[in-house]
Amino acid sequence: MRVVIVRNYDDVSRKAASIIAGEITSKPNAVLGLATGSTPLGTYKELVRMHRQEGLDFSRVRTFNLDEYYGLAPDHSQSYHRFMEENLFGRVNIKKGNVHIPDGLTKDVTAFCRQYEEMIRQSGGIDIQLLGIGRDGHLGFNEPGSSLGSRTRLKTLTEETVKDNARFFSKASEVPRLAITMGVGTILDARKLLLIASGGVKAEAVKASIEGPVTSQVTASALQLHPHVICVVDEPASRLLLKKDYYKYVEKIAETVEAEARI
Ligand code: PGA
Repeated sequence: MRVVIVRNYDDVSRKAASIIAGEITSKPNAVLGLATGSTPLGTYKELVRMHRQEGLDFSRVRTFNLDEYYGLAPDHSQSYHRFMEENLFGRVNIKKGNVHIPDGLTKDVTAFCRQYEEMIRQSGGIDIQLLGIGRDGHLGFNEPGSSLGSRTRLKTLTEETVKDNARFFSKASEVPRLAITMGVGTILDARKLLLIASGGVKAEAVKASIEGPVTSQVTASALQLHPHVICVVDEPASRLLLKKDYYKYVEKIAETVEAEARI
């Protein structure tokens, strides 16, 4: 696992966007796993800038989103369909048919979830999965107690998550209590994982995920089981990491090696 500690939120966004852009450049039909929430907003903004100013081409890119609220129509102001359209898809040259987000209105959840997994498989699998992290250490909506082998399914949100997400709704009572989410096992199948975290409120979750024991009580700790993970965190979010100096040293050495390789 690479832990890249940067100064602030803008640096997290720039670094994450450059990693995703690198993936698209080296494989123009890359399959991206995408996330919603406040944290990826800056990453998407930077990807849109790269598309407009540097010609980053999304025309062959395919995407699968992590999750969607159950019961929200795609055009609901707080649906993740709307979020993705407003912050990324509507602002780059991606083809609508290449975009996949769980259907919050499906009548047959079990069949839909099985089909979502099948579509991911048929695409050849996710090349890089972008991930935020909840204060309780969740990935997607895999709340504490989610099996580390879980697949796409319906999950009940914790009170903490409902409270955290209430800021986007006019009333807390409007926040859906259920969501369709990729499972931890689905996420671990991606070839690369890119976790982003910013701010002191995430420090405990970041510490537990990177340095704590692997446990279903902190589903992001499952990252430790994956062979290719990059965590990009800012200084406040990295505050509690015990091996912080070592992670910084590793990145410095990596830069030197890369610089020498270029000479
Ligand atoms: P946030 O959410 O980016 O809005 O903090 C992250 C998450 O819950 O996964």
